[in-house]
Amino acid sequence: MAARIIDGKAVAAKVRSEVAAGVARLKQDKGLVPGLAVVRVGDDPASLSYVTSKRKGCEETGMVSTEHHLPAVATHEEVLAVVHKLNADPSVHAILVQLPLPKQVDADAIIAAVAPEKDADGFHPVHAGNLALGRPGVRPCTPAGVMRLLEEIGFDPRGKRAVVLGRSAIVGRPMGLMLLAADATVTWCHSRTADLASEVGRADLLVAAIGRPKLVKGGWIKPGAVVIDVGTNRGADGKLVGDVEFEVAVERASAITPVPGGVGPMTVAMLLANALEAALRQS
Ligand code: GUN
Repeated sequence: MAARIIDGKAVAAKVRSEVAAGVARLKQDKGLVPGLAVVRVGDDPASLSYVTSKRKGCEETGMVSTEHHLPAVATHEEVLAVVHKLNADPSVHAILVQLPLPKQVDADAIIAAVAPEKDADGFHPVHAGNLALGRPGVRPCTPAGVMRLLEEIGFDPRGKRAVVLGRSAIVGRPMGLMLLAADATVTWCHSRTADLASEVGRADLLVAAIGRPKLVKGGWIKPGAVVIDVGTNRGADGKLVGDVEFEVAVERASAITPVPGGVGPMTVAMLLANALEAALRQS
């Protein structure tokens, strides 16, 4: 039997409407309009497209968004100065520094300079540390979006074997920690994993976030597993391709996210939710 296709667009729309309701309530109760500031450095086309969808999302949910665009040759000090200005601006409740940053800018230092209470991405070391310690804090948007998708399909990670493919600071690492917090038995796999096929074959839940088109063969998937594909790889034809061989995996999994239309739309929706939370914390 073919898997249920998880409709990330529909869940993202639901999250956005929840955020819009929260924004309206905050305006009514406290006269406060949540403000998200986006810092973009250089002219990476993917970054421009993310930033555009974040701005649209803000407009749609009633938040104010401002963009702070610096040229690709901006110095570390110039980027840092923008972050400091936004930290001090009371009309800015949430800050997002779009990654990647040009190589002359020390991205780790910029992320650490964002006031933790204004961090919309949850990338600040304080939030990463709290997540690692099993404490509350701001969660990175993509793994938070995956958790929301699991909730929507009624998949409880408790006691399940979860395999996370990838260990990036943005997705793989926080994803595994969030699944651990939800009582899954978590295995991280990565480019140095010895036998990826057998690790994947044991997974009740697979989250693939390694950025290699169709690396995960459909035949590796345990029958009945839930498959979440975070991969957004551009194929030679310019189309988006996931990390999982979808056509085969869909015949084995019980539920699977498509690419595009699965995890992708959730990232922006969860960012809006984080921005609203930041405004609520500061209200
Ligand atoms: N670049 C790719 N994904 C992200 C993200 O989630 N947040 C930020 N700030 N930059 C990114």
